[in-house]
Amino acid sequence: MVKAKTLVVANWKMNPETYKEAEKIYAGSVVALKKASKVKVVLCLPYTWLTDFSHKEKKVVSFGAQDASIEVKGPHTGEVSPTMLTSSGVEYVILGHSERRALGETDELVSQKVSASLKTGLRVILCVGEKTRDLHGDYLLFLRHQIINSLNKIPKRYLKKLIVAYEPVWAIGKSDDEAMNVRDLHETSIFIKKALAEIYGPVEGMKIPILYGGSVSHKNAKDLLTLGEVQGLLVGRESLNPKKFESLLLSING
Ligand code: PGA
Repeated sequence: MVKAKTLVVANWKMNPETYKEAEKIYAGSVVALKKASKVKVVLCLPYTWLTDFSHKEKKVVSFGAQDASIEVKGPHTGEVSPTMLTSSGVEYVILGHSERRALGETDELVSQKVSASLKTGLRVILCVGEKTRDLHGDYLLFLRHQIINSLNKIPKRYLKKLIVAYEPVWAIGKSDDEAMNVRDLHETSIFIKKALAEIYGPVEGMKIPILYGGSVSHKNAKDLLTLGEVQGLLVGRESLNPKKFESLLLSING
């Protein structure tokens, strides 16, 4: 059996400020990812440059959006539908990111988005993660509910296109020594697999890839991946610096 490539999802969020800068980061990222042939990179860019860049280097890069509507078309000002994305060469979408949940997205809405996107053939990166950790383990209950509610009613036949990104909110956007420690990550990734197995059964549930996100850098990427036992990484800030992004990719390319 061919080993699946490690997945790295670069989440540019609402960055950079100008098209010119975006072109520069994009060009640097392409150079970086061409050197790391054992890593599959998905660039999740703001809509403004997503479709423009997605027509350039289709073969080496995969593209993702950072959100998608539950609607197909019509009077929904400001929204972009999953079909618009797939028909523009976009393959992936991040859904339920904590920064969108903070704007009011509920598990119910996230679940509808997951369903609408999977139906059009997009690969969905569903973000989950607790806001805080406590000594009693209440965060585990929170996480379990979030997973179950966000995947509510998603049939098994779509699982091949589902990826779960575990992003503890408290670890996002910090310095790299504030990322989650690898032992806790390992425990939590097993916990998430168990929650997925609860919904989809042990065989199917265990196959869903888990990514870690939250202050991933070229310094901690390898340990998070190997000792944390996750199948990939979701990288924010570090993906905007092509040199550091290259070091990150090369560090896990073994
Ligand atoms: P960060 O962001 O790598 O800057 O912490 C990760 C994310 O929010 O997806």
